[in-house]
Amino acid sequence: IYLVTDSMVDAYFYSADSELLVVPQEGRLRFCTELGVIDAAPQEIVILPRGLVYRVEVLDGPARGFVCENYGQKFELPGRGPIGANCMANPRDFKAPVAAFEDREVTSTLTIKWCGQFHETEIAQSPLDIVAWHGNYAPMKYDLKTYCPVGAVLFDHPDPSIFTVLTAPSSHPGTANIDFVLFRERWLVSENTFRPPWYHKNVMSELMGNIYGEYDAKPQGFVPGGMSLHNMMLPHGPDRDAFEKATTSNLGPAKLENTMSFMFETRFPQHLTEFAAHGAPLQDDYIDCWTSLEKKFDGTAGEK
Ligand SMILES: [Fe+2]
Repeated sequence: IYLVTDSMVDAYFYSADSELLVVPQEGRLRFCTELGVIDAAPQEIVILPRGLVYRVEVLDGPARGFVCENYGQKFELPGRGPIGANCMANPRDFKAPVAAFEDREVTSTLTIKWCGQFHETEIAQSPLDIVAWHGNYAPMKYDLKTYCPVGAVLFDHPDPSIFTVLTAPSSHPGTANIDFVLFRERWLVSENTFRPPWYHKNVMSELMGNIYGEYDAKPQGFVPGGMSLHNMMLPHGPDRDAFEKATTSNLGPAKLENTMSFMFETRFPQHLTEFAAHGAPLQDDYIDCWTSLEKKFDGTAGEK
């Protein structure tokens, strides 16, 4: 989670370690990069390639959001398989900036993240001095409102991977280095189906963030700006309220509105920093959301 209150002045940065995926949640940021300028607001994302130099300005602050460091292969669109040529994230909606340069001879600081360490040096000019460029290793922004979700139209609940926006694959299909998955407004129409996520445990670690609104599997506690972490091989699922609503409501067409959450899903176990474990505001009663779930099984067929 990032919180930015001030613009970088004559200060620049690049990460030699990772590509960065920025998910604004409040406020607007301007990324002045070697290859041009990108303005980003909530409901948009920005992808900054590994090695790209940039400076960040606050347009409308304080700016708050989420950032993912991808140490693996760079993010790409997931294969659509039989879905074909359209839907999910479309290539046309990823926008690279036009070239923009600064011809400024002023003492500047360049900070480099390299193998987890921060190294700083002084240079005599702005490093954003590239007048023109061509190629495809470029920063990009993407408007999450252009994401076209695909889902069940008769029965059953597909895996959340069906909402993948971008993936950084690994050598093992189905276990990405990291996936960026979006849960946005959509219609639910499936019949005879438990519509929220199943109760499950899996090989992937799921870090979720709420951009706005209410997440259907967790109506309480998971607030905008907040995040949750369900680490690999730890069972989890909807809380009691979500379960009761999903099992007793009329299963007519229903629109999930006022909701935009995402998941950084990775095959790697996630360790907490000291701050995340103790310093950050925590939802201490989170574990209690499953304690009041009642046993419904009695060995007989039919609805309970
Ligand atoms: Fe999960």
